[in-house]
Amino acid sequence: MQAEILVLPGDGIGPEVTAAAVTVLRNVAARHGHEFTFIERLIGGAAIDATGEPLPADTLAAAKKADAVLLGAVGGPKWSDPKAKVRPEQGLLAIRKALGLYANLRPVKPHPVAFAASPIKPHLLQGVDLVVVRELTGGIYFGDKQRTADSASDLCTYSVEEIERVIRRACRLAMQRNRHVTSVDKANVLETSRLWREVATRVVREEFPEITLEHQLVDSMAMHLLARPREYDVIVTENMFGDILTDEASMLAGSMGLLPSASLGEGRVGLYEPIHGSAPDIAGRGIANPYAAILSAAMLLRHSLGLDAEAQCVERAVNAALAAGHLTADLAKPDSAIGTQAATRAVLDHFPLPCQVPELRD
Ligand code: IPM
Ligand code: MG
Repeated sequence: MQAEILVLPGDGIGPEVTAAAVTVLRNVAARHGHEFTFIERLIGGAAIDATGEPLPADTLAAAKKADAVLLGAVGGPKWSDPKAKVRPEQGLLAIRKALGLYANLRPVKPHPVAFAASPIKPHLLQGVDLVVVRELTGGIYFGDKQRTADSASDLCTYSVEEIERVIRRACRLAMQRNRHVTSVDKANVLETSRLWREVATRVVREEFPEITLEHQLVDSMAMHLLARPREYDVIVTENMFGDILTDEASMLAGSMGLLPSASLGEGRVGLYEPIHGSAPDIAGRGIANPYAAILSAAMLLRHSLGLDAEAQCVERAVNAALAAGHLTADLAKPDSAIGTQAATRAVLDHFPLPCQVPELRD
């Protein structure tokens, strides 16, 4: 198949890890007879430096035209002045909103080789396999913001429709998994959460009767996520709770450097990015872990291009590279760590056998 992929390297380690993901995608294309075209545009701090804006118009136009968007990371101390008028993060929020990417899928499946790097006891990590579906274009992130000399406010709003569509997305995903959805809110305090709970209950009852729905308050969810992570399948929640819970969940996997994400809307175009940040402290040194970006590329193959077999090949290759001990500094013992390029090479070397044979497709 033919596909146009927009690459937005962004800041810090973004360019290094997206380059690794593009290498793997090129390799997949060659193995399977696909034609992927890559175009590159600016976002975040790099875009502010070049154009004054975190999301230049031609970046957004290219995203709307592309089949999928692969993003590295945005931000860094250079653009972190609290008084600055524009910030790199605004570029990321704006592109999510403009493309209507309301559902952010963040799978967490700890690899045994990374158990030692997790602060959680290994027996609790065994068998953990969950996906957080985070609402991505509503809530307090996008509500009206006010600032006066001595006060500030951020409005949190959700419409029924915004809640329905993300709950449905989570339920469709759960139908392909263990049919268990945990909806997370703060319904004992927040009105938006009471609406969230009402809508979640109705959507599941009317449209997904096979699904077991459980409600959790976000504070107790934060605790259960570490105490009994194995019990969760699909967790669906609003924007800010999802932001916080997924950083917490990343600790189950041992390193932020292992977790991919997909941001999806109604259309085919999705945005794929590792959940880690731009890590300015290690940027440009060739030591960043590329696995999260490579796994994000696998999600791109699956969700935007419909290439599930190819996605599985990439995921199996990353798992095999990890199992064989090809670990970057975030996971390895200090004297045995490998760099970004060696880790990328290890993924290419560990493609499972059925993926080695180029398939002919129409
Ligand atoms: C994330 C990040 C972003 C968010 C920041 C960079 C705006 O933390 O993708 O989780 O809060 O959504
Ligand atoms: Mg975050």
